Amino acid sequence: MAGDNVLVEFFKLIYTILFSILESIFYCFVSKKEKSVTDEIALVTGAGSGIGRLIAIELSKRGCILLLLDINPVSLEETASIIRNSKGKSYKYVCDLSIRQNIHDTMAKIAKDIGDVDILINNAGIVTGKSILDASDEEIEKTLDINLMAHFWLIRSVLPSMLARNHGHIVTIASVAGLAGINKMTDYSASKFGAVGLDDSLRQEIIHLNKTGVKTTCICPYYINTGMFHGVKTKFPKITPILKPEYVSHKIVKAILTDQVILVIPKIIHLLLMLKSLLPTRGFQAVCDFFEVNKDMASFRGRRGNM
Ligand SMILES: NC(=O)c1ccc[n+]([C@@H]2O[C@H](COP(=O)([O-])OP(=O)(O)OC[C@H]3O[C@@H](n4cnc5c(N)ncnc54)[C@H](O)[C@@H]3O)[C@@H](O)[C@H]2O)c1
Repeated sequence: MAGDNVLVEFFKLIYTILFSILESIFYCFVSKKEKSVTDEIALVTGAGSGIGRLIAIELSKRGCILLLLDINPVSLEETASIIRNSKGKSYKYVCDLSIRQNIHDTMAKIAKDIGDVDILINNAGIVTGKSILDASDEEIEKTLDINLMAHFWLIRSVLPSMLARNHGHIVTIASVAGLAGINKMTDYSASKFGAVGLDDSLRQEIIHLNKTGVKTTCICPYYINTGMFHGVKTKFPKITPILKPEYVSHKIVKAILTDQVILVIPKIIHLLLMLKSLLPTRGFQAVCDFFEVNKDMASFRGRRGNM
């Protein structure tokens, strides 16, 4: 009878929810087993600096063969030479991620020279730090092209072989700005909300296809001291500190190796996001005002001249 089936499904649902809660509590105390990535081909965008470089170096130490992609050939070579000096293996690709054809050409070259990508890390990103009226049309478009559209073109390039082999990992470097909006970040935040949505929906597509060997990880960090958000200040640095790049990249690699679905750092941000969901709008605005989040970008300088 249909009613019996619904009852069975309902009890299965309750069982799975309870099991998932117990499992989460268990993993608060016990570290998850890390998977091996030896000889895996890992493509990192924005590998020329910041956390992209650090993730590439750490994955190389874990035995990955790195495909380093960046617009800047000088910083790209610096990353490659660091990897070389520690006996790692990498290939450099100069590519402007704001140009779709440039991405297609680079991926065709990778397919021909190297083969299938096992781990894709969509990391490259830019920020204008300008209000919606101060940013030019071109700046807004470029932010969305690099921070979001490039993810589509790269994922569409590597996903077919991942699905065919039922093996792969797609990592989205988003931001806390992809979970909550902030003054002077309309373009950046829109691109990061888009990246978070892309990751979430992609994961559902993969689950629907029952490709259990293809994983996704979405990373949402708070400000990191890489230079991208140079000048930004937070009101309570003890509660919401500007993060160290080495700490963030270490956490990211750990999340990849343990197939973590989403990583929000620091953990305190979870509490703020919970308040965003639970409180009335005015109540959450009061929390934002208390933390003076809309003043964070007042002293922003960023990487002047990267646009
Ligand atoms: N720094 C932060 O506070 C912070 C916080 C949250 C999320 N993030 C995200 O983390 C990622 C890495 O940030 P980061 O702080 O290491 O930045 P970064 O500026 O140090 O590095 C970004 C890299 O992307 C490259 N890049 C820029 N435009 C490109 C293009 N058109 N084509 C190819 N490569 C291009 C740059 O050359 C650079 O090497 C970004 O997606 C960023 O949005 C950063």
